[in-house]
Amino acid sequence: MSDPVPTELLEAGRGYERLFVPALFAPWTKHLLEAVGVHEGDHVLDIACGTGVLARDALSRVGVAGSVVGVDAAPGMIAAAKELEANIDWVLGHAEALALEDASFDCTMSQFGMMFFEDREAAVHEMFRILKPGGKLAISVWNTIEENPTYEEIISVLREHVGVAAADAVHLPFTLGNHGDVMTLLERAGFSDIIVETKVESARFPSSQSMVEAELRGWLPLFDIHLGEARIKEVLEHSDRTLSKYVVQSGEAVFPTSGHVISARK
Ligand SMILES: C[S@@+](CC[C@H](N)C(=O)[O-])C[C@H]1O[C@@H](n2cnc3c(N)ncnc32)[C@H](O)[C@@H]1O
Repeated sequence: MSDPVPTELLEAGRGYERLFVPALFAPWTKHLLEAVGVHEGDHVLDIACGTGVLARDALSRVGVAGSVVGVDAAPGMIAAAKELEANIDWVLGHAEALALEDASFDCTMSQFGMMFFEDREAAVHEMFRILKPGGKLAISVWNTIEENPTYEEIISVLREHVGVAAADAVHLPFTLGNHGDVMTLLERAGFSDIIVETKVESARFPSSQSMVEAELRGWLPLFDIHLGEARIKEVLEHSDRTLSKYVVQSGEAVFPTSGHVISARK
């Protein structure tokens, strides 16, 4: 039996699912699923699956004849994913060294995970290795921070009220915005038919405070930055001064996000 996941990490995984997934990540899954063309009966791998939003959407397309595996390096993410869907094989592991057989998947996808891999070249080789010949890959990465200006503001709030490490952790997702590096890695690994599509989706948080709350409860704990309840309340009050301009009539905070969906074939 695997060791129990510390409560703090499980709560961060649950916080990521509750605060981030519907607001920011769910609108992107359709783009990756369309880019690889997931079919009934396919065997699908979701790398850096987080709490599994993309894997769950893939499961609804592959049906009972297919299968979905989700791999993530964070125990809290995998533990939260297991609570949500029992019909996916959730694996704790690193993209750089997948404990999966050669040529065993029809499609593999990775939604907004590649920026965090320590060895991206190894990860891309693994993606190639586990795909069947002719199998399809889709990766999404956020566009540059300049093309996601709302995040520049969120990062400023965090820098001022939490610290540089918090600001850096929220800046990290935007570091592959010039997607050329990813394309070069795919070419070198042997992928063909490489296509980049730049897309814009609306992020829709329940309130302006929840834009920052998602970072404090669902993202920063992955970087070992844990704030107590009193500090969270204080930071959220400050954040409202900058971010309340995103609130629309329904009370939700809405803003555009830009990302690249890169697809390729083995
Ligand atoms: C922004 S989240 C995206 C999660 C999910 N794909 C989604 O769309 O909600 C990035 C994920 O990458 C995972 N991750 C970071 N480095 C990893 C690695 N080397 N191998 C596997 N997962 C990794 C993190 O644990 C985190 O769950």
